Amino acid sequence: MDNKAEKKNKKKALKQEILEKVGEYYRLVYRDDEEFIPGKSRLNYAGRVFDEKEIINLTDSSLEFWLTYGRYSKEFEKKLSDFLGVKYTFLVNSGSSANLLAFMALTSPLLEDRQVKRGDEVITVAAGFPTTVAPIIQYGAIPVFVDVNLQTFNIDINQLEKSVSSKTKAVMLAHTLGNPFDISALKTFCQKYNLWLIEDNCDALGSKYDGKYTGTLGDIGTSSFYPPHHMTMGEGGATYTDNKLLKKIMLSMRDWGRDCWCESGIDNTCGCRFNKQYGTLPFGYDHKYVYSHFGYNLKATDMQAAIGCAQLEKLPEFIQKRKNNFQLLYNGLEDMKDFFLLPKATSKSDPSWFGFWLTLKDGVSFKRNEIVKYLEDNNIQTRNLFAGNITRHPCFSQLELCKDYRVIGELKNTDKIMNDSFWVGVYPGMTSEKNNFIVKSIIDFISKYRKVDI
Ligand SMILES: Cc1ncc(COP(=O)(O)O)c(C=O)c1O
Repeated sequence: MDNKAEKKNKKKALKQEILEKVGEYYRLVYRDDEEFIPGKSRLNYAGRVFDEKEIINLTDSSLEFWLTYGRYSKEFEKKLSDFLGVKYTFLVNSGSSANLLAFMALTSPLLEDRQVKRGDEVITVAAGFPTTVAPIIQYGAIPVFVDVNLQTFNIDINQLEKSVSSKTKAVMLAHTLGNPFDISALKTFCQKYNLWLIEDNCDALGSKYDGKYTGTLGDIGTSSFYPPHHMTMGEGGATYTDNKLLKKIMLSMRDWGRDCWCESGIDNTCGCRFNKQYGTLPFGYDHKYVYSHFGYNLKATDMQAAIGCAQLEKLPEFIQKRKNNFQLLYNGLEDMKDFFLLPKATSKSDPSWFGFWLTLKDGVSFKRNEIVKYLEDNNIQTRNLFAGNITRHPCFSQLELCKDYRVIGELKNTDKIMNDSFWVGVYPGMTSEKNNFIVKSIIDFISKYRKVDI
């Protein structure tokens, strides 16, 4: 055997040995066989769920040491596209970056009269996560906040007509905690006024509306792969679309704003790298360094994508477990309707829930923070609906109402959620024993207050 072949064989054998050891390490260190002790074991609202496949993929990618966008990234984009049934997917480094990229794509001059310009309005809600709204404000567009429905936690479609003006160009909304917003109503509204629709699908991967995956029904969908989400790669996110022009713009903006579409390490994909006129540059200026947008570098590493590829295989099972866990909590808490407003799936939807929320009914004799403290003291982790009402946060202190943002009505339900709602987890790491303990703890808390209640 010559030297080269020997080296190749040795490399293969060594890699195999390393990957086997990694599997062994996983089984020793991470396999969760700890007994659940109610009240003592921590019940997180979410967390990574993985096995040796994720660590093996990660190690494989790190041995390859390509580091940036590479074969795993490509595979991930293709597989997520296939799963969702969309034409184009872009892997990015977070859900917030995905929202930034999705929104900024709408500001491209390539969109001509549909370009979102500074001062144009974008309809959204205040009850949710800040980075659904941040790109709108950072760019200098005007978010218009509409109130939400207390049962679905999504935009109140009865207020849509009131929110539109001659400046409205887009709607950007999250499917709250996995519950799809009323996509039929939103699409009809967007068609009527020629508006873009961005679906922040960060908390809803796998949810369906009218038989189709959320995130694929508007113009652009976004995902987050931060650990609590439906699947993870540590940090990570994605945008997806069927629109060829938006695809071109998002590729450019994700990758520094460049005009060229060569993959990392590859030159002259277009075949005319040095023989075109761009702007007022000298003729034949290297296409690789021609910029059609003011872009970013939002790419993830290939190591993140490698983890994502392993997680994608588990996604259908993750989604099913989230649905089952939600149902167990719902069944257990259904009788608590005197005390709480329970979540309600939007009609025509099949949610892949991110969490199970409870809203205290008006008039109950305890406060949200009292029940939350009780649960946390019992080692049950809780969460608020993120910002509650984003317009009440310090980041709004320098913004002027009616100039920098608009509010439709009084956002009464948004404030109610800010004051009286909380949620617990339904992630795949939950078991029926754990769900039962959450249900029992809530009922135990309520039993203390039952006598003095409404
Ligand atoms: C609705 C929504 N959008 C966007 C994000 C941001 O995702 P990331 O944390 O990956 O930036 C989150 C985060 O949880 C979210 O809940």
